[in-house]
Amino acid sequence: MTESLARAEALIASIPDYPTPGVLFRDILPLLADADALRTVTTELISPFAGEFDVVAGVEARGFLLAGCAAIAAGVGLVPIRKAGKLPRPSEAVDYSLEYGTATLEIQSDIAPGSRVLLIDDVLATGGTLAAAIELVKRIGATPAGVSVLLEIESLGGRSKLKSLSTHTVFADR
Ligand code: PRP
Repeated sequence: MTESLARAEALIASIPDYPTPGVLFRDILPLLADADALRTVTTELISPFAGEFDVVAGVEARGFLLAGCAAIAAGVGLVPIRKAGKLPRPSEAVDYSLEYGTATLEIQSDIAPGSRVLLIDDVLATGGTLAAAIELVKRIGATPAGVSVLLEIESLGGRSKLKSLSTHTVFADR
């Protein structure tokens, strides 16, 4: 790992018992607030997929922030994948499992069929969120080109839900 990446990783804070007792929450906001760290991780998110995507898709909410940076850095457009009820013209919806209960993600069909989409989020935990996001991209006729995530919580095994799609994580939390 480069010195810049190590410095960026050190800016991710660990918050015990948030949002519920027993959960160790990884807070990436200090990293986002640091210009060098933000630039470094943005480059790291997109560089393994250089030339392989036409658009990025960011997952609400923290995934939006990284996807916005990635889109500008890569010179491509951005598709937001939103929680239910937020889009004016949702064209597809997919339910996914949370620790307790289910939630729904939605997408609009604003990109050309066949567009190659790099999916971006801040954290890969159980993988339910990104698996649903991949399904949404397919349902609008686009092609998932890969998944790029800032932090993977490896012990939760979410990567297995992403099947054969190329998955890159900048930092691993073991
Ligand atoms: C968090 C995180 C990922 C997702 C990962 O989002 O930002 O999107 O959980 O979890 P999973 O791999 O177990 O599905 P959250 O649902 O908390 O939404 P937020 O970003 O709006 O807070």
